[in-house]
Amino acid sequence: MAVREIRELGEDVLRKICKPVEKFDLRLAILLKDMADTMHDADGVGLAAPQIGIVRRAVVIDVGDEHGVIELINPVITERSEETQTGREGCLSLPNRQGVVTRPMRVKVHAQDRHGRPFDLEGEGLLARAICHELDHLDGHLYIDCMDRELTEEEIEGHIPEDDET
Ligand code: NI
Repeated sequence: MAVREIRELGEDVLRKICKPVEKFDLRLAILLKDMADTMHDADGVGLAAPQIGIVRRAVVIDVGDEHGVIELINPVITERSEETQTGREGCLSLPNRQGVVTRPMRVKVHAQDRHGRPFDLEGEGLLARAICHELDHLDGHLYIDCMDRELTEEEIEGHIPEDDET
């Protein structure tokens, strides 16, 4: 288990456009394992490579459902539902902050697995939100760029029943 340092808002690496993953080797497997360890250690539901300083198009997501840890390499969203969801969202790179963000209710994503094999995945609800949030990281975008509004400290502490940090 290797937990890496999570980069926070203000660090240039969070604003970079990440490069495609080209080598599906042991180094990638170690990166993905470290990303999952780091995400779980921080109680997050998603983590993108730039959040640990790696400018590559790789994300991990674990929303606590039957999928377990999802690894998306070079992911692209291919479909977004017109139906949307509006709810709270946080980010491990912006500790102690949350915002209200509107996202598609369902998305389809095309990606590669750790061996380079292509696959498609459909996500709904929190999984769709996490996919959108994490893929945004790969283009240097953060939820604060697209949020409806930021939550106050009181609202963050209160129990508005919604999403977890991604
Ligand atoms: Ni994030």
